[in-house]
Amino acid sequence: MTAFIELNRVSKHYGGNVVLENLSCDVSEGEFVTLVGASGCGKSTFLKLLLGTEGVTSGHLLMSGQAVPLEPSAERGIVFQKYSVFPHLNVRENVALGIEFDGNPWLGRLFGKSRRAALQQADDWLESVGLEQASTQFPHELSGGMQQRLALAQALIKKPKILLLDEPFGALDPGIRKDMHELVLKLWKKHQLTVFMVTHDLQEGFHLGSRLWVFDKVRHDPHAPNRFGSTITYDLPLRAEDPLAMTPEVNEITDQLSISSNVKQLRLATK
Ligand SMILES: Nc1ncnc2c1ncn2[C@@H]1O[C@H](COP(=O)(O)OP(=O)(O)OP(=O)(O)O)[C@@H](O)[C@H]1O
Ligand SMILES: [Mg+2]
Repeated sequence: MTAFIELNRVSKHYGGNVVLENLSCDVSEGEFVTLVGASGCGKSTFLKLLLGTEGVTSGHLLMSGQAVPLEPSAERGIVFQKYSVFPHLNVRENVALGIEFDGNPWLGRLFGKSRRAALQQADDWLESVGLEQASTQFPHELSGGMQQRLALAQALIKKPKILLLDEPFGALDPGIRKDMHELVLKLWKKHQLTVFMVTHDLQEGFHLGSRLWVFDKVRHDPHAPNRFGSTITYDLPLRAEDPLAMTPEVNEITDQLSISSNVKQLRLATK
């Protein structure tokens, strides 16, 4: 059987800067992969390869057996920590815009019946992300959590199969983050999405993922730090019933990322 996403010796260089090297693995449809690793190790670059805004330098990155097209498409949606909206459009119009651009790439807007249908779809998505009360507000009037709900609705209205999340909750308060975690898990299950989510928060990675990847370098050249790139050094399946189980691998990762005490405390608290 063909894997949904297949990485075969994928490398990405920017000139002489080797960012990623030799990534190989398969991902099935419906997995929730969380990505952790030091700043600058290539996590966002990896998402850009999946999105198709960057191409691989060597190796193969396949989706359903085909090379990932070098342009964003409806099947891949992305949410960044900071996102882009049209400030002069309200929440509902910003969400509907994804469909409007699809329907009419020259004018960018729809009219009459098709516009009403686009707005209706926007309303449905706003409801599923819990933002229906804010549909006529403008982006600058929203809180950080509401802005990320809007970003999720914008990404999902085009019904992607793959959702790419680049530290989407990094700027939110802990309480709001928790609500967003529940929302993202609900959307993942309901729409059978395949999710790749970058996070700096290892606890978030363990809590949300069905699989956790650590990106790191296995080779270092002290005289030329850009000579070698990161690869997937750990690929951990997470058990839903006990994602923080202190297996030897989890211990090693948490020690490596120097936050073992937090995770160990959390584990004790969840016992
Ligand atoms: N468009 C680009 N052109 C040249 N170099 C780039 C480009 N995008 C990223 N890089 C380089 O690739 C490396 C990895 O960057 P990337 O943004 O993927 O890291 P990251 O793991 O997402 O870091 P962070 O956790 O800080 O977000 C860095 O050395 C960066 O300078
Ligand atoms: Mg990044």
